[in-house]
Amino acid sequence: MVCGLVVAGARASAQVQGQAQQPPPPGAGRQGGGPPTNLKVLPKDTPRPVLVAMMRVYAASLGVECKHCHVDDMAQRASDENPKKDVARKMIQMTMDLNKTLDSVGMPAEPDAPKVTCYTCHRGAIKPLTSAPAGGQ
Ligand code: HEC
Ligand code: HEC
Repeated sequence: MVCGLVVAGARASAQVQGQAQQPPPPGAGRQGGGPPTNLKVLPKDTPRPVLVAMMRVYAASLGVECKHCHVDDMAQRASDENPKKDVARKMIQMTMDLNKTLDSVGMPAEPDAPKVTCYTCHRGAIKPLTSAPAGGQ
């Protein structure tokens, strides 16, 4: 499912990638421009434009900015100083495990499309809801 999550990011980043045909030289640009250096859950060879597209999806899924999980310095995305980043790593792993569990109950996702994503629970909020709205059936 790592793959599924990455490909979902890749789809979201088609445009970003289109703009990044010529990779900037290492050290160029506000984020360094080189390959990611501190991936512990996502595949280590995830290209930066794909990764950043996935990050935008995480941010939108939780309704937060990058600095919710990163230190507030665009040049320091590899830093693990913000403890929310490790929470997010566990969430990524949990989400991959949930998709594997769906496989095992006979409800597999399409190869490139995880059924459970951050948005499935978070719906644009940091704290997922735990009960249906009052006044339902
Ligand atoms: C919900 C938490 C969260 C949000 C929001 C988030 N990130 Fe991340 N980011 C992570 C995690 C977790 C990792 C490390 C993943 C791993 O270890 O496999 C990471 C890694 C990265 C990396 C790779 C750094 C390196 O060199 O290893 C970059 C670049 C990055 N994020 C950019 C961004 C940008 C830009 C945004 C805002 C659009 C953003 N992130 C928003 C959690 C987040
Ligand atoms: C199965 C439901 C579920 C899924 C899927 C899920 N989360 Fe969560 N997440 C939670 C719950 C529940 C909490 C705890 C909220 C609380 O009590 O504050 C949480 C908390 C977090 C937090 C800490 C928020 C804070 O600031 O306190 C981060 C960061 C986070 N999730 C990131 C992610 C990311 C990134 C993904 C997708 C890779 C993801 N989550 C997928 C249920 C989920």
